[in-house]
Amino acid sequence: MTEMKMERERDEPRTGAEGPDKAAVKVNDAIKIYKTGELEVVALRGLNLEVSKGEFVAIMGPSGCGKTTLLNLIGGMDRPTVGSIIVNNTDLSELDTDQACDFRANTVGFVFQFFNLLPELTARENVELPTRISNLGRKERETRAQELLELVDLEERGAHKPSQLSGGEQQRIAIAAALANHPPILLADEPTGELDSEAGAGILDLLRKLSKEEGRTIIVATHDIRVARYADRVLRILDGEILTQGPEDLTRLSQEASQREEIEQLRNRVSELTDTLTRIRQSLAKT
Ligand SMILES: Nc1ncnc2c1ncn2[C@@H]1O[C@H](COP(=O)(O)OP(=O)(O)OP(=O)(O)O)[C@@H](O)[C@H]1O
Ligand SMILES: [Mg+2]
Repeated sequence: MTEMKMERERDEPRTGAEGPDKAAVKVNDAIKIYKTGELEVVALRGLNLEVSKGEFVAIMGPSGCGKTTLLNLIGGMDRPTVGSIIVNNTDLSELDTDQACDFRANTVGFVFQFFNLLPELTARENVELPTRISNLGRKERETRAQELLELVDLEERGAHKPSQLSGGEQQRIAIAAALANHPPILLADEPTGELDSEAGAGILDLLRKLSKEEGRTIIVATHDIRVARYADRVLRILDGEILTQGPEDLTRLSQEASQREEIEQLRNRVSELTDTLTRIRQSLAKT
């Protein structure tokens, strides 16, 4: 593996004094223009962002506003057309090919909407797979897989294939796999998009735990407004620019989320009452 001048954190508890720069991620005046034949799409228009180590940040905004583009730049999957991306004090544009591979394998973990697990492997094998590119021996890799299954509370499901797990469980396994090589930063693109509200809340809870108890930096792109309850900060993007951020936004979104949940509960209650009423009517009709 290539030597890198990259600050590496290995599951160390947060002390509050994180070295010279507390920023895990800095995006400076990033412009991203996609060119497809004659067509140019400006996905990001001079976006600036700073995320502190251990912070849990949610990125929200309408479809097409540039959320995935931004995560791809931070994760080193793509480069900005103009501007710079600094992750853990490293300017990603300065990495050569080997260093960029090392960065993607060890510094950032990715979680996607559709879980991205290999269907023919068990949960334990899926979690262990990313450690194969590390220098760990077989025994150490097995120990790491066990730790990861315990971290996401699924040690009893290790032998299950993804098809034998619920959506929420599959996503927890996908998060465990993304953490296999101890990345200090976790990027998640619509991690609750495929889940019902209970399983979605479980995933947000887990992400919050990873940020608060393990000091990992979490950046989530999502349409799920309940994330406001779990995140330290919500950033809104509109047309490739950050619109608003801050506690007022968080409070408002949190209130909106509560109202939606209350409405959902009321709907369920009404449908239960309607069922009961139907049953009573049916039994009355029989008598
Ligand atoms: N590889 C690509 N080539 C060309 N255009 C692209 C590419 N990827 C994204 N775009 C365009 O860039 C803009 C931003 O896309 P992006 O995927 O970042 O949006 P998003 O906020 O993640 O949307 P969603 O909420 O639907 O996932 C969109 O107009 C999209 O069509
Ligand atoms: Mg997207």
